[in-house]
Amino acid sequence: MGGDGSENSLLNQMLTNTQSFVEKAAQLILDSNYTCAFTGAGISAESGIPPFRGEGGLWSKYNPEVLEMNFFFAHPLASWTVIKEIFYNFFTGVSPNHAHLALADWEHKGYLQSLITQNIDQLHFKAGNKEVYSFHGNSSQLICISCHQSVEATPNLLSVLPPLCNICGCVLKPDFIFFGEGIPEEAYRQSVKAAQKSQLFFIIGTSGEVSPANQIPVIAKESGAVIIEINKDKSLYTNRISDFFIQGKAGDILPEINQFILQTKAKTL
Ligand code: OAD
Repeated sequence: MGGDGSENSLLNQMLTNTQSFVEKAAQLILDSNYTCAFTGAGISAESGIPPFRGEGGLWSKYNPEVLEMNFFFAHPLASWTVIKEIFYNFFTGVSPNHAHLALADWEHKGYLQSLITQNIDQLHFKAGNKEVYSFHGNSSQLICISCHQSVEATPNLLSVLPPLCNICGCVLKPDFIFFGEGIPEEAYRQSVKAAQKSQLFFIIGTSGEVSPANQIPVIAKESGAVIIEINKDKSLYTNRISDFFIQGKAGDILPEINQFILQTKAKTL
């Protein structure tokens, strides 16, 4: 493109689309009887937690083998050294951002009935959401690989690696899922149910690369939900199942949708 203004008009068109999609999203929320949000690492990026894939992603810096069960059993110290750096040091002192807070506000006001997250950072709970299905488990608990005792992941327990069970002396594993492990049963069941019930389904900040989590939005789509995707970049969902793709940072877009909800409600009073 060469300075004939077409670049600008394309940009304007994109901005107009984004704005009209944001407005549309607000209207759809107000019209929906069951709305569910499905979130990934992108929603926590603005809280300072790096996502997994793409430029600067965790998997460009660390080898994902640390989350493979065989590697963990064979090299618990090596595995734990990286796990602590990624999942415990990064998570310490982080707070929910505007996107998490908007979702908590929606639940509180009755606009959001459930939230499925692949994240293990607990930020949706910290923001105040209650109906959260943690598809990949959580980082706040550790579980003994032998006697299955569950304990809280305190800094004290993680000060000597690998952390050991105080009952049987075996290695403790974070209570989130490693590659190849099954999804926590209850979270899986609740997530499928929520996807099937959804009239409106938000996909926020996820690449769609990890299975079986990436099937949940597909279930929502096949069950008739309108799919709104919010992501900085296109994902595997964008040209496949998303009815509306709103390109941008979740921490900007979700508060904008909120503004339109308020405006729309004010007009109907
Ligand atoms: P990925 O790192 O694969 O994808 C993050 C997505 O967030 C990308 O599509 C980015 O474009 C988008 N993104 C980044 N910053 C954003 C922002 N500020 N606003 C909106 N979108 C943004 O993360 P996930 O899809 O969550 O599994 O990855 C799924 C699973 O892979 C994780 O749960 C983890 C990992 O292996 C386990 O730990 C078990």
